[in-house]
Amino acid sequence: MTIDQFNFAGKKAIVRVDFNVPIQEGKITDMTRINGALPTLKLILDGGGSLIIMSHMGKPKGKAKKELSLGQIIDAVSEALGTPVKFAPDCAKAQEAAAALKPGEVLLLENLRFYPEEEGKPVGIDKEDPAYEEAKKAMKASQKEFAKTLASYADCYVMDAFGTAHRKHASTAVIADYFDADHKMLGLLMEKEVQAVDNVLSNIKRPFVAIMGGSKVSTKIGIIENLLGKVDKLVLCGGMTYTFSKAHGGKIGESIVELDKLDVALGVEEMAKKNGVELVLGEDSVCCTGYDFSTFSVKEGAKIQVFPSNAIEDGWDGLDAGPISREKFAKAIEGAKTILWNGPAGCFECEEFTAGSRAIGDAIAKATKEGAFSLIGGGDSVACVNKFGLADQVSYISTGGGALLEAIEGKILPGVAAIKG
Ligand code: 3PG
Repeated sequence: MTIDQFNFAGKKAIVRVDFNVPIQEGKITDMTRINGALPTLKLILDGGGSLIIMSHMGKPKGKAKKELSLGQIIDAVSEALGTPVKFAPDCAKAQEAAAALKPGEVLLLENLRFYPEEEGKPVGIDKEDPAYEEAKKAMKASQKEFAKTLASYADCYVMDAFGTAHRKHASTAVIADYFDADHKMLGLLMEKEVQAVDNVLSNIKRPFVAIMGGSKVSTKIGIIENLLGKVDKLVLCGGMTYTFSKAHGGKIGESIVELDKLDVALGVEEMAKKNGVELVLGEDSVCCTGYDFSTFSVKEGAKIQVFPSNAIEDGWDGLDAGPISREKFAKAIEGAKTILWNGPAGCFECEEFTAGSRAIGDAIAKATKEGAFSLIGGGDSVACVNKFGLADQVSYISTGGGALLEAIEGKILPGVAAIKG
């Protein structure tokens, strides 16, 4: 079933969205994901249906956490939809609230990941524990029950959470088993995202330049290795810079590093060489003596200075790309015809450390103007593009981070498979 064929009049639709939005001091700092789901949600409401919206936020690991409550976004979702949104604080016990919904009404369920059943992984038991396999089996059974409960709230299921489509969770995949083919469908955002990935994969125009940022090599290694088989140039920036510096014996001060991944970093360099891919790494960094990661601000009295990325003095933390790196990144992007950007070059949330990400954003906008297809994905890089006012100067902004990367790797996303088979 496709969403434009379905008659929502008088029907209740349970819609999985990805409202895992960045929040600072109780305020949503980037509305991209909420705005991205609006066409689907409005189509259902305009068609005479009622909505049960479900999402996760963050990684609460099966426990309720106030700071990750979706209660914080009720007002923003109400405003975006132009109608008041009711809230179900216990998503496993929302039968009554769902049953009471009239056409045009909206119910938002609490963070699905407050329930370990959502992810379906046993909590509080080590993988090495002999009882783990049994616990896993029991949890899979509970996951099915949880999915069945969610399914019982509605007449049809719409999967529109592209950002979470790479997870085989109760709400993203298992739930689809409780609806027949005529009562489950992808949302409009999912359809658009899948199409954008297809544009990049089946239509690569060269040079293809990928820019990967973020703090850890370990979380990106799968996609980095995969991209090394596809791209002409790979820019690696952000916190992973220091794992590369360290791997070559550099001094990195207090900068973030994965000491157990130094060999992985060297392996990436070797693979790039073997594949004829130009690997572009930062050479200098904007460093700080006191950065508060919880408030994204420079502590009083802290100093800021540029160091070579392999000669950072003790007490200094590398937080952004320095001027030489910025120029190098911009030059690498110049003339590209296909561009993929995931992950910022620094702690862009703080004005003092935005320059690296800004240089990348500007270079992408310029290349796009000159004819490149640019795809931006991942909450932070999307937030950068929005912050720098470049959203309308890139080709496509994806709501997916990990999901986008897995899709680019050519993997079938469980959230898509659950609907399309
Ligand atoms: C994301 O932010 O990429 C999505 O919301 C998925 O979140 P996850 O990586 O915690 O599953």
